[in-house]
Amino acid sequence: MSLYDNPQFLEGYRQLRRTGQGINDALEIPAMDAVLAALPIAGARVVDLGCGEGGLAVRLAAAGAAEVLAVDASEQMLAAAVRHPRVRYERADVAAFDLPHGSADLVVSSMALHYVEDFVALVARVAGWLASGGAFVFSVEHPMMTAPVVAADCLVDNYADEGRRERTWFVAGVVKYHRTIGSIVATLRRHGFRLESLDEPLPTSDQVATCPHLAIHRRRPPILLISART
Ligand SMILES: C[S@@+](CC[C@H](N)C(=O)[O-])C[C@H]1O[C@@H](n2cnc3c(N)ncnc32)[C@H](O)[C@@H]1O
Repeated sequence: MSLYDNPQFLEGYRQLRRTGQGINDALEIPAMDAVLAALPIAGARVVDLGCGEGGLAVRLAAAGAAEVLAVDASEQMLAAAVRHPRVRYERADVAAFDLPHGSADLVVSSMALHYVEDFVALVARVAGWLASGGAFVFSVEHPMMTAPVVAADCLVDNYADEGRRERTWFVAGVVKYHRTIGSIVATLRRHGFRLESLDEPLPTSDQVATCPHLAIHRRRPPILLISART
């Protein structure tokens, strides 16, 4: 069963998203939209990996994408996904999902790829899907967050040891995969990508003044956001 189909996990996750005060709304969505604003969206064939309830897919369709194929492993997330005439949802495991060569202009993913074990194989497939000049834009949980084997608020540890980590996040045993920033970038380069931008979205002091719970994210970065072109 997909983690996001576990009722206890899903309730916790949805509750967090409903507040609108998590890192997604405060940090990830504005940073992702700023990066995407620099790309040609109108008429683009887009693929969204780990689309969840479709927020990003629908924003891209509304921005003029010709079609958005939005993929997620969770039945519950897809059942709640926002509908749009140019967004097609498909239930699939990103780790096994494939598309024809050159069939996409833009591949995006928000906060999902740290759940995928084999990043090298995924990047190789994405490189094949993209037409020449296509873009791959994705955010993941920041490697400083995924590094520790035992999770702690502000402790970066075991950074060099890539691989499986288990966390308690609403439920015990949530599996994520740690990769260093260096290896993420090297994997992209090895598969023919040119790095366009690398961001670490952080709350401003003004945001922290309004939402004090964001202060922790000035102590260590919660998100890594990368844009790369073929
Ligand atoms: C943190 S949520 C982000 C959802 C959405 N991208 C957003 O930003 O609102 C992570 C999503 O990734 C999906 N996911 C995790 N592992 C996956 C996999 N191997 N294949 C497909 N989807 C996966 C989950 O089901 C979940 O919907």
